[in-house]
Amino acid sequence: MSQRTMEAHYRPNWELTQAMGLFGYNCGYAPKDRTETFDEHQRSLVWQLIGDTAINESSNVLDVGSGIGGPAGWIFQKYKPARLVGIEYLGSSAQAAEARYSGQASRPFFLQGDAHNLPVADGSIDVIFNLESALHYPDKNKFIAECFRVLKPGGTLCCGDITTNRKLLFAPVELLNKLPSQFNSNVHLWSVTDYKNAFRKHGFELLRHEDASLPIAKSIDDGLQEIKQRGWRASKGFRGRIGFMGVLAGLLKWRLLGYDLFRVRRPRTAG
Ligand SMILES: C[S@@+](CC[C@H](N)C(=O)[O-])C[C@H]1O[C@@H](n2cnc3c(N)ncnc32)[C@H](O)[C@@H]1O
Repeated sequence: MSQRTMEAHYRPNWELTQAMGLFGYNCGYAPKDRTETFDEHQRSLVWQLIGDTAINESSNVLDVGSGIGGPAGWIFQKYKPARLVGIEYLGSSAQAAEARYSGQASRPFFLQGDAHNLPVADGSIDVIFNLESALHYPDKNKFIAECFRVLKPGGTLCCGDITTNRKLLFAPVELLNKLPSQFNSNVHLWSVTDYKNAFRKHGFELLRHEDASLPIAKSIDDGLQEIKQRGWRASKGFRGRIGFMGVLAGLLKWRLLGYDLFRVRRPRTAG
């Protein structure tokens, strides 16, 4: 995992968000009967992942893999937590997020950092939000252990990620990570069972699990439709991404990939 290869991976996303006036780097969530813009779908995914998790004026919230800061800003605006810090691997994205909110008296803050080593004190966080980022972590066990360490007893981890039950099929993608960094896929997929086992192993209680593959696939289809309406010329800089999004939506519909939303809690008392 290197800043350079991850930067190359996210450059088209940056172009896409700039062109479309978006603030998030996620796939969005769109149940069958919902007609919304892709921007609204991205917000819906944030609310779907958080669900009934308690966040209030005294909450300390961490957004791990905060991208360019859209979700952190939406959460901050809705719940007004005491503190919301975004930890983002790419320095350029953390800076873009900081710039978005600079000058606002009350706002989320963003730091460059790594999900594998959270720069946060033990037992200090009420809620960790982690959306569509863990697919990039080579050592998800380390990340989950870090979440357990920094959460207060009773604190919640909201984790949404792309998964697969067909690891053999995606083995070539995983193999690319062993080649020199310019060929790195930056993708390491877990199955739902891997997640559930790891949460249990690290001491978490599972509060909720949702297979969100179909609403996510519909959201991507809606996003592609919006891009199409703007015309081919307007998609300069992220045309490869369009193809990738189409393939991702197909893989989700065919159930070769999944998109899963987990809410897990650090127990109030040691088990
Ligand atoms: C698909 S984007 C999602 C961003 C954001 N959660 C959102 O919904 O808009 C994944 C983000 O995770 C970041 N990321 C990848 N590996 C990371 C790591 N080890 N630590 C922190 N962030 C990481 C990427 O740089 C990228 O910004």
